[in-house]
Amino acid sequence: MSERKKFQVVVIGSGPGGYVAAIRAAQLGATVALIEKEALGGTCLNVGCIPTKTLLAGAAVLHQVKRAESFGITTGPVAVHYEKMKARKDAVVAKMRGGLEGLIKSNQITLLRGTASFETPNSLKVVGPESFFVDAEKIIIATGSVPMDIGAFPCDHKRILNSTSILELTQIPKTLAIVGGGYIGCEFASLFAELGTKVTILEALPTILSLQGTTVAQFMTKALTQRGVEIVTGVKVLGIKNTGSGTTVQLEGKMLETEFALVAVGRKVYTEGLHVEKAGLPVGERGVIAVNEKMETAVPGIYAIGDVTGKWMLAHVASHQGIVAAMNAVGREAVAHYEAVPAVIFTAPEVATVGLTLEQAKQKGFQAVSGTFPYMALGKAQAALETEGFAEVIADSKTGQILGATVIGHEASNLIAEMTLAIQNELTLESVEETIHAHPTVAEAWHEAAAMALGMPINYPPRVKRA
Ligand code: NAI
Repeated sequence: MSERKKFQVVVIGSGPGGYVAAIRAAQLGATVALIEKEALGGTCLNVGCIPTKTLLAGAAVLHQVKRAESFGITTGPVAVHYEKMKARKDAVVAKMRGGLEGLIKSNQITLLRGTASFETPNSLKVVGPESFFVDAEKIIIATGSVPMDIGAFPCDHKRILNSTSILELTQIPKTLAIVGGGYIGCEFASLFAELGTKVTILEALPTILSLQGTTVAQFMTKALTQRGVEIVTGVKVLGIKNTGSGTTVQLEGKMLETEFALVAVGRKVYTEGLHVEKAGLPVGERGVIAVNEKMETAVPGIYAIGDVTGKWMLAHVASHQGIVAAMNAVGREAVAHYEAVPAVIFTAPEVATVGLTLEQAKQKGFQAVSGTFPYMALGKAQAALETEGFAEVIADSKTGQILGATVIGHEASNLIAEMTLAIQNELTLESVEETIHAHPTVAEAWHEAAAMALGMPINYPPRVKRA
């Protein structure tokens, strides 16, 4: 264990924060090492965004097949082979992992396999297939987060699952209790409800998706309920037991029996075994590593990005922070910005938000206006039989500057990009209204929503009838 390797920039963790930081630092001429103890790609690629979206893509196909008759198409008997859906999910993940490995190599980044821990602010010990020390001018911590467990009913990963172990199921649960109605709870509820599972969401707060605001929470409560999901809010889960053949979920004064339970009550930052104290790095509440807008920690030369910074637990935020950290680490100036962070919940229908809600804009002192356009009134939505949902744009009535947007419905995940670009570049309602939007597309919803906020919609009746 006497071998020492030396690099200008060393990144710990290869998720969408870490690998992006490593590539940018290498592009800017630094010698770079990327340390990973598990599979390349982190949570997002292996047990998060990509596997869940692959399974959800399967559920979307099933949805279309089930309603083929509405399009004048008769199908034969439909059967879901979940083990094949899972195998496809694993194949997609493996393919993307291979692609990432190639990308790392082609950028001349040294991939070091093993667990890193700090020795000093500029050196790490790596323990893995081979063990050695690494000296670094700059270190970027990108170690991410892990699912939160609840002490009273820890996951056994057999019947009581978390967002990682549920991805290993090879059968569709007949019944599933989901503790937590946030991003993860709602996405899995949507997936399994489509596949025929009787899903019950148990949420402690008065609504599901409470962080997304009242409009989203109310709309999605209705949408998921219509799809057969039972939503119980304001409920306390006292315990969950594995009975061998299923679970019993103990609620106050009530018991629920389900085949499986999923605990989706949030994620916690992950720095286990990293020994940041040896670098003199303080950890904050919940283990968070505090950073400034340059992604610098309290210790010069050490940066932190992604979930471990406790800001937004979103892959694309980690990537943005990764670029910023890499730039600063190689002596360029960059700062992170969070005014236009899109967030997507990949339920059916999809939910996407960016910037402020109307209430938030008003609370911040803006004379805010909003324009909301229903999918129902869009030609493309009618053609595709995707009429559920709406697009809402929020703006400052004094300047017309766009402050926020929410869209629920078909392709919401893609549609939010236009409003993200608008907010990032301080565009106004007029700029959107003057932009030619292709017809017929669902993106026309923004054109119409902006026109609504300006009081002059074309494809919607005026609110006040003119004499
Ligand atoms: P979350 O914070 O979104 O939701 C957790 C929910 O569990 C909250 O509604 C909370 O009130 C509830 N809860 C907490 N303790 C509870 C209890 N004892 N009983 C009942 N309910 C309880 O966390 P989630 O869904 O686990 O996701 C973690 C993070 O992962 C999110 O913050 C998100 O940033 C990220 N994520 C992002 C996705 C995306 O971008 N599409 C998809 C999945 C996760």
